Amino acid sequence: MYLFFLMYLLLTIHAKSKLVSRKTYIISMDMTFMPKAFTNHHNWYSSTIHSLKTTNHASSEYDESSPSLLYSYDQAIHGFSALLSQDELEALKKSPGFVLASEDRTFKFQTTTPEFLSLNPNTGLWLASNQGEGVIDTGIWPESKSFNDDGMTKNPKRWKGKCEEAQEFNASMCNKKLIGARSFGKGLIANKPGFNISVNSARDMVGHGTLTSSIVAGNYVKGAFFFGYASGTASGVAPRAKLAMYKVTGKSSTYESDVIAVIDQAITDGVDVISLSMVFLNESVPLEEDNLAKATFTVMEKGVLVSTVAGNRFQGDQRIRNGYPWVMIVTASTIDRWFAGTIALGNGEDIVGWSFFPGKDLLQNAILLHPKILRPCDKIRNVPNGIVVCRGEYTKLKSQAWSLLDSNVLAAIIIIDNPSTYVMEDMHFLPLPCILISSDNARVLKDYLKSAKLLIANMTFQQTMIEVKPAPVVASYALRGPSPHIPCVLKPDIMAPGSLILGAWPPNTPVGEIQGHKQKYQEFLVSYGTSLACPHATGVAALLKGAHPEWSPAAIKSAIMTTADHLDNTNNPIRDNGNGLKIAPPLARGSGHIRPNQALDPGLVYDATPQDHVNLLCSINFNSTQVLNFTGPNSYSCSSPSSDLNHPSFIVLLRERKRRASPIIQNFHRIVTNVGQDASTYKVMVTAPEGSTVVVSPEKLIFRKRNEKKSYNLTITYGGKAKSSFGTLVWVEENGNRKVRSPIVISPDVYKTSTGLC
Ligand SMILES: *[C@@H]1O[C@H](CO)[C@@H](O)[C@H](O)[C@H]1NC(C)=O
Ligand SMILES: *[C@@H]1O[C@H](CO)[C@@H](O)[C@H](O)[C@H]1NC(C)=O
Ligand SMILES: *[C@@H]1O[C@H](CO)[C@@H](O)[C@H](O)[C@H]1NC(C)=O
Ligand SMILES: *[C@@H]1O[C@H](CO)[C@@H](O)[C@H](O)[C@H]1NC(C)=O
Ligand SMILES: *[C@@H]1O[C@H](CO)[C@@H](O)[C@H](O)[C@H]1NC(C)=O
Ligand SMILES: *[C@@H]1O[C@H](CO)[C@@H](O)[C@H](O)[C@H]1NC(C)=O
Ligand SMILES: *[C@@H]1O[C@H](CO)[C@@H](O)[C@H](O)[C@H]1NC(C)=O
Repeated sequence: MYLFFLMYLLLTIHAKSKLVSRKTYIISMDMTFMPKAFTNHHNWYSSTIHSLKTTNHASSEYDESSPSLLYSYDQAIHGFSALLSQDELEALKKSPGFVLASEDRTFKFQTTTPEFLSLNPNTGLWLASNQGEGVIDTGIWPESKSFNDDGMTKNPKRWKGKCEEAQEFNASMCNKKLIGARSFGKGLIANKPGFNISVNSARDMVGHGTLTSSIVAGNYVKGAFFFGYASGTASGVAPRAKLAMYKVTGKSSTYESDVIAVIDQAITDGVDVISLSMVFLNESVPLEEDNLAKATFTVMEKGVLVSTVAGNRFQGDQRIRNGYPWVMIVTASTIDRWFAGTIALGNGEDIVGWSFFPGKDLLQNAILLHPKILRPCDKIRNVPNGIVVCRGEYTKLKSQAWSLLDSNVLAAIIIIDNPSTYVMEDMHFLPLPCILISSDNARVLKDYLKSAKLLIANMTFQQTMIEVKPAPVVASYALRGPSPHIPCVLKPDIMAPGSLILGAWPPNTPVGEIQGHKQKYQEFLVSYGTSLACPHATGVAALLKGAHPEWSPAAIKSAIMTTADHLDNTNNPIRDNGNGLKIAPPLARGSGHIRPNQALDPGLVYDATPQDHVNLLCSINFNSTQVLNFTGPNSYSCSSPSSDLNHPSFIVLLRERKRRASPIIQNFHRIVTNVGQDASTYKVMVTAPEGSTVVVSPEKLIFRKRNEKKSYNLTITYGGKAKSSFGTLVWVEENGNRKVRSPIVISPDVYKTSTGLC
C-alpha cells in the first residue's frame, strides 16, 4: 500500500513538470583561479559541480538526478567533463576560472606486411630499437598469440601504467609485451544510459583494437593465416615494442570525453608514441573549441608523437580528418599481395583469378553450365547445381553472390570489368565458392565454353600471390588533403599499408558469413582501412624513438616523411586508385610510402618546437589570449606569428581572384638539422610544379658538425591558371646516399580560407 502511494506521488510530480535533460560537456578551466583552499584541481572541479546543485533550486524543472563530474583532466587539457543541463551549464559559465565549454562529440573507428616494408630482424631498424606505445582503441584480446612476451625484456622503471583488474580481465593477463590495459566509458554511459556494455574491462569485444595493436607491436606468430590466405609468420611493425591498450568503450563509435581521459592517462603513464585510429563524425568544430586538438598539442609538448588516421571516405565527404600540424596523419595504400583461386578447365587450360573463398580444393570435375548469353550474376534464376559463369559488378558483388546462393548455384566464375578496387583494397568474403576473372581472361573461358558439350572444371582456392604490380597505390577510400583546420600545412603526412592487412582477431568475434555458416571464427583477420595504415606508421615511430630517444615528435615525423618513397614497385610515380590509377598528388599520398630503414638515418631533419606551432596558431587569427586558452597555462608568446611552420613539405594555396594581374609569390624559410655524419654537404635538386618557378637559396648546405643547423629560403612564383600541380625538393648528399625529399604543392584554396587562415 505504502509502495503504491509513493509511486503515485512520483508519477504526479512527473506529470506536472518536465524532466531535466542533460548532456555531457568538456569544460576548460583556468588553473590560476583555483582557490588556495583546494589541495588539487579534482576537488576544485567536484566542488564547482556540487555548487551547481544548490544554485539550481529555483528551477521550475523537476530534478531527480544531479549534475555529475565524469573525469577531471590534468594533463591533456586543463578542465573536466560533466553531465549538465542547460541551466547548470549557464551557471557554470559564471564560475571563477571558467574558460570554455564544448559539447561532447563522437568518434568513429576507422576500420602482416613487414616484408613489403623491408623490415628484417637482421638489418636496419629492427636491430636498432625496442620501445613502448599506447594504443587508443576498442580494447585487446590478451590471449592472442600476437601478445606473447617471448624474447621481451623487462619493463622500464619509468613506466607508470597498469593492468586494471576488471570483468574478464585480471592483472596476470599483462606480461612483458602487454604492459598496460585500462578501460574508459563514463562518457558513453552518461550519453547512453541504457547502453549494454557486454564486458566492462579492457577486453576487446569488437576486434578493432586487437587488430590495430597487433599491427603496431604484435610479437612473432608462426603459422598465422586467415582461412588459409596470407599464411606465414605474422608480426607487428615493432615486434619487440611494449604495448599499452587504452580501451574507449563503444561498438563503432565512442565519446570525446572518454578519449581525452585516455590521453590524460597515457601521458601520466609515460607512453612514447600514441596511436589513434579514429576520427570525429562531426568535424565542424572550430579549432579553439576542439579538445582533441588541445590534447594532442599537449602530447606533442611532452615530447610524444601522436600517430593518427586520415580517415575513410564517409558519404562522399573527402576532407581529411585529424589534420592538426602537430600530429602525424597517415593515409592508406595497397600492398603487393592478393589472393587467388585457379580454374582448371576440362581442356587443360588454367585461369588464375581473384578469390577469397576459405575452402581449399573444393570442386573437382564440376559441371560448368553453359550460358547462352552472359547475364548479370543477380539475374541468374533456377539453375541446377553447377558452376555458373556470370557478369559481376564491383559495387553489388556481395548481394549478387547472395542471390546466386539463393538460386542453388554450387559455385560461380564472375567476370568483372574493373576489378582493381576489389582486388587491391577490400577483397571480402562472398558467401559461396567463386573466382573473379577479368574480361581479358574471360576469352580463354569463352573459347572452352564454345568447344564442347560436356564442360567441366576444377576450382582451387587459398592461393596467395605476391609482387603484384603496381604497388603501393593510394587506396580509394582514404580521405584527401588539404586539412580544413590549417590548410597551410600539407596533409596527409605519410602513406602506409592499409589494404588486405593481416592482424590478430578476438577468436569470439565472428568474421563473416560463408555458405550459410554465419559465424566463422579465426585468430587472424584480413581487413582494410586507414585504421590499419596508422598502426604501421606508429610502429615505425616507436622504433625511431627507441633508436633516437632525444628526437622530438617533429623530428621523428620529419625522418619518416623525408625518406618516404614517391615511386612504386615499377619505378614510376605512385598512383591513385581513387582517381583511375592516375599519378597520385601529395594531397592524396602525402610524402609517399613509408620506408622504416631509411627513416632511421634521414641525414637531415626539419625540427619544430611547441613555440613554432604556437607561432602558426598566432598567424591564423588566434590572438595571444586565445592561444593561451588553447595551450593552457604554459608560457608562450605570440610575438612572431608565422604560418610558415618548419615542416618538411610546402603548399601554396591559390585564393579566388577574378582576374589575377600578377603572379603569386610565396616565400618559405626552413631550418634543417644535420643528424647524419659530422662533415657532410647537401645539394638541392628541384622539380618545380607545372606553371611555377622555384628558387632555393643557398643551393648547397655545408655541415661541419653533427646536430648543426642550416637554413635556406625557397621562393615559389606561380603564374599559371588556378589548377593543382606539384613538384619536389630534394637535398641530395654529396659522396653519400641520403636524399631528403619534400613535396611542393600548388592547390586551389578549396576551403576558401582567405579570411586569415594561412
Ligand atoms: C580565454 O580565457 C579567458 C579566461 O582565462 C576568458 O575570459 C576568455 O573568454 C577566453 N577567450 C576565448 C576566445 O576562449
Ligand atoms: C586470472 O585469469 C586467469 C585466466 O582466466 C586465471 O587462470 C587466474 O586464476 C586469474 N587470476 C586471478 C587472480 O583472478
Ligand atoms: C547485455 O549483453 C549481454 C552479453 O551480450 C547479454 O547476455 C545481456 O542479455 C544483455 N542485456 C541486455 C539488457 O540487453
Ligand atoms: C556538429 O557540431 C557543430 C558544433 O558543435 C553543431 O553546431 C552541429 O549541429 C553538429 N552537426 C551534427 C550533424 O551533429
Ligand atoms: C580435377 O582434379 C582431379 C584430381 O586432381 C583430376 O583428376 C581432374 O583431371 C581435374 N579436372 C580438371 C578439369 O582439370
Ligand atoms: C583576442 O580575441 C578575443 C576574441 O575576438 C577578444 O575578446 C580579446 O580581447 C582579444 N585579446 C587580445 C589580447 O587582443
Ligand atoms: C632568407 O630570407 C630572409 C628574408 O628575406 C633573409 O633575411 C635571410 O638572410 C635569407 N636566408 C638565407 C639562408 O638565404
